[in-house]
Amino acid sequence: MTRRSVLTGSGSALPRRALGNEELAKMVDTSDEWIVERTGIRNRYIAAPDETTVTLATVAAKRAIEAAGIDAKTIDLIILATATPDQTFPASATLVQHELGCNGGIAFDVAAVCSGFLYALGIADSMLRTGMANRALVIGAETFSRILDWEDRATCVLFGDGAGAVVLEAREEDSVQPRGILATRLHADGAHNHLLFVDGGPSTTGTVGKLRMRGKEVFRHAVTNLADVLVEVLGDAGLAIEDIDWVVPHQANARILDATARKLGLAPERVIVTVDQHANTSAASVPLALDTAIRDGRIKVGDLVMLEAMGGGFTWGASLLRM
Ligand code: ACO
Repeated sequence: MTRRSVLTGSGSALPRRALGNEELAKMVDTSDEWIVERTGIRNRYIAAPDETTVTLATVAAKRAIEAAGIDAKTIDLIILATATPDQTFPASATLVQHELGCNGGIAFDVAAVCSGFLYALGIADSMLRTGMANRALVIGAETFSRILDWEDRATCVLFGDGAGAVVLEAREEDSVQPRGILATRLHADGAHNHLLFVDGGPSTTGTVGKLRMRGKEVFRHAVTNLADVLVEVLGDAGLAIEDIDWVVPHQANARILDATARKLGLAPERVIVTVDQHANTSAASVPLALDTAIRDGRIKVGDLVMLEAMGGGFTWGASLLRM
């Protein structure tokens, strides 16, 4: 018998306000045509003052718990991936825990920016397999609109707010095709801080800061790193690209998704794309896209699904699971 982390439910949440390209073009010097051509983005959601990373995360978590059909009180581990927490401390995960009424278990945040959900998933999987916990909630939630420079058209058009969550349960899986997380690889390379960062922080400026990015360089690294880590994970699992039913990539830019798929020889029909509607929601983007494809019936129990992401740091990673 092998103890594995099985995904038993997913959920997501978006702010009430949708902001389309046409409306955005009235606020900054840009156009629907430029944004669609360079990024594939048509729409994003922007949090109102009463919508925060924690409120979005809590709604996504409740939907995931409902989909899993479990009692929230049985959750003994919450990991929340975010770069936009409600407070510098305590961890937003503890606030979500309190909202859900499962006080007493483990709860903490993970900061790996757009790869945060992959990092959180990898940590949760390790903790479940070693028996430190039995039922985990892994959440990616962000309010990037709060750290955007709304005068910088090269970055503010790319991001949106949202949250996604999954329930992972430790189960003994001994079938030939076991359900659960099969392989994960995570990486970081701190040499690239200057290409994608926030120009503030509690210990430096004492401010929150704004997102800064050198888009072209990020683009280049993203395609290489994502293709490489996906091949690594496939190698660990002893599988080939043709074996995968679905790839759920970090939704940064449609051109990054296309270029990565081309590099890997992956059929575009097998790539879940939500960047057109949600834009880049950082740590929320993979679980948001995953939940969208589970709820619309594309991803089903038994499917082999590859999740992958890359973000500031740089950090990047991929995880293969059987639903
Ligand atoms: N509207 C209109 N024009 C714009 C806009 C805009 N929103 N933004 C930039 N421009 C202009 C620039 O000023 C420049 O004008 P110039 O030629 O007169 O100087 C021109 O468009 C080209 O600018 P570039 O930055 O060279 O445009 P590029 O083709 O590289 O596209 C983009 C920019 C979309 C950011 C691209 O580099 C990219 O997608 N990079 C990946 C970054 C990314 O996705 N980051 C997300 C976080 S990391 C991650 O999640 C993987």
